[in-house]
Amino acid sequence: MFLQNYKRINLEKVVSTNLHASDLLSGKLISEPTIIVADFQTGGKGQGNNVWESGPVLNLLFSLVVFPLKIKAKEQFYLSKITAIALKETISEHLQAVKIKWPNDILVNKQKISGVLIENTLKADVINSCVIGVGLNVNQTDFTVPAVSFKSETGKEFDRKVLLDAFLNTFHYWFEILQSRDFAQIDSEYYKSLYGFQEWHWFSWGGVDFEAFIEGVEPDGYLVLKAKDGKIFKFGFREVEFLINKE
Ligand code: BTN
Repeated sequence: MFLQNYKRINLEKVVSTNLHASDLLSGKLISEPTIIVADFQTGGKGQGNNVWESGPVLNLLFSLVVFPLKIKAKEQFYLSKITAIALKETISEHLQAVKIKWPNDILVNKQKISGVLIENTLKADVINSCVIGVGLNVNQTDFTVPAVSFKSETGKEFDRKVLLDAFLNTFHYWFEILQSRDFAQIDSEYYKSLYGFQEWHWFSWGGVDFEAFIEGVEPDGYLVLKAKDGKIFKFGFREVEFLINKE
C-alpha cells in the first residue's frame, strides 16, 4: 500500500470544507485529487439540514476531492461504501466494536464517532467530481449531541495527522478497487461491517414503528428491507429512521 499524493490544503478556520471544495471546483481551481483539512468550521454541514459541530483543533474535519473515472450516477453509492469501509478500517486499528450504520455513519458501541457528507457533480450520467466530507471525532469529550470520540472511548489523546494519513492510505486502496469495478469485493466488505445486516431491526416510517429484515443496500444507496409479511420495501436517505436503540 502506498500513500496517494493528494494535494493538501490546510485551513485554520473555514465555513465548511465541503463548501470550500465546491467553490474551488466551480472556479475550476482544482483538477487533481485534493484534501482540504480544517481545524475549525463555523458552518459545518451535516446530512440533510443538520449542522456538524466540532470544537476547535480537536477532531478531523476534511473534504477529499476525487475524480472517479466511469462511475455512473446510479453507482454513486459505491463512493459512500468505500469511504465508510476506509473509516471503519482506520478506526478499528484503535477501537473495538466499530460498525457502519446505513447509509454511512460510523458507530463505536452503537454511538456515532464519524459522519460523512458526499456531494457529487455529474457530467451526463457519470460522476465528474466527488467531494467526500468527513467529520471524525478524535479528542473531543463534551458533545451537545450523543457522540463518542477516540478520547472518550480510551481516555487517551490521538494524533489527528496520523489518523488522517492512515485513512488516506486505506481510502486510496479501496478507491483503486472501485476503479477496477470490483463491486462484489466492496459489497462483501461493506456488508461485513454493516450494522444489522441480515438481521431483524426496528425502523420508523411516517410515524409508524415497524420491524424489518435488512436485505441489503442497492448500488444507488436505497436500503432494502423485508417486512414481517414478506413484502420488500426500498428506502432512500432520510426516508426511514433506523431505531438502533429499540431491540
Ligand atoms: C453527518 O451528518 O453525519 C455528516 C457530517 C459530515 C461533516 C463533515 S465535517 C467536514 C465536511 N465539511 C462539512 O461541512 N461537512 C463535512
